[in-house]
Amino acid sequence: MEAVHKQHEADENCVNREMEFSPAYRWQHWIRAFSIVVLTITGFYIADPFVTPIQSAEPDNFMQALFRSWHEIFGFILIAVVLLKSYLFIFAKRYKGEMISIKDFLNPKVWMQQVGYYLLVSKHPHLKGTYNPLQFIAYMGFYTLVFILIITGLILYVHVYHEGLGAFFYPFMRELEVLLGGLAWVRELHHIAMWGVILFVTVHVYMAIYNAVFGKDGSMDAIFSGMKWHKKH
Ligand code: HEM
Repeated sequence: MEAVHKQHEADENCVNREMEFSPAYRWQHWIRAFSIVVLTITGFYIADPFVTPIQSAEPDNFMQALFRSWHEIFGFILIAVVLLKSYLFIFAKRYKGEMISIKDFLNPKVWMQQVGYYLLVSKHPHLKGTYNPLQFIAYMGFYTLVFILIITGLILYVHVYHEGLGAFFYPFMRELEVLLGGLAWVRELHHIAMWGVILFVTVHVYMAIYNAVFGKDGSMDAIFSGMKWHKKH
């Protein structure tokens, strides 16, 4: 017991526990993650209904409409948190490192060092921002896909709901629909973008676990508790 206590004290003397993610950041991350799961399940159902409603003589089951309404509810929740995240990315001082990553992304030297690091031929580059160029391009790809899903989702939405927001967006979304090549293609694009998101989420979870195991700095804990460990010099 004494030994454990001493070890704990020694650990506390050589690491700082610092706030990495604010509550707003963590909430938007988990609401976004949950929405993506619900949207993927309900989206698969809309594309290819995999549950048969109870047989009834009356036309009152409306299973497809039920799945679609949950899809739309979580679609708008996703839109809200993506807007919050975009605001944090552009304006929040605490996360300015994310924006500064653009400098590393545009620097060919950092790219060469980063690729060299993965090929075990050079040291990890010294980064000005939060993300290395490969991470940055992965997140850019993810947000591009999410924005494609949002735009194509809203085009599909104005065809199924014609009041309120549906009526407001209708004229713009119909123009966009024509620009994108018609409703059938919009739906296809929405579906393809979903597969892109599934691929990203799979790699993202793998990398998070990998970094938590080998980084040993609580990088995974940070998205739950907000706190990360930094070595004292
Ligand atoms: C991660 C985000 C999303 C995923 C994975 C996703 C997935 C899907 C899938 C797979 C479909 C079926 C397409 C097909 O028929 O092949 C679909 C349809 C649809 N989605 Fe999404 N979606 C997402 C976001 C959104 C958003 C943000 C909205 C906007 C409110 C939205 C609104 C719709 C609508 C209205 C339909 C068509 C329903 C119908 O045809 O009856 N989706 N979605």
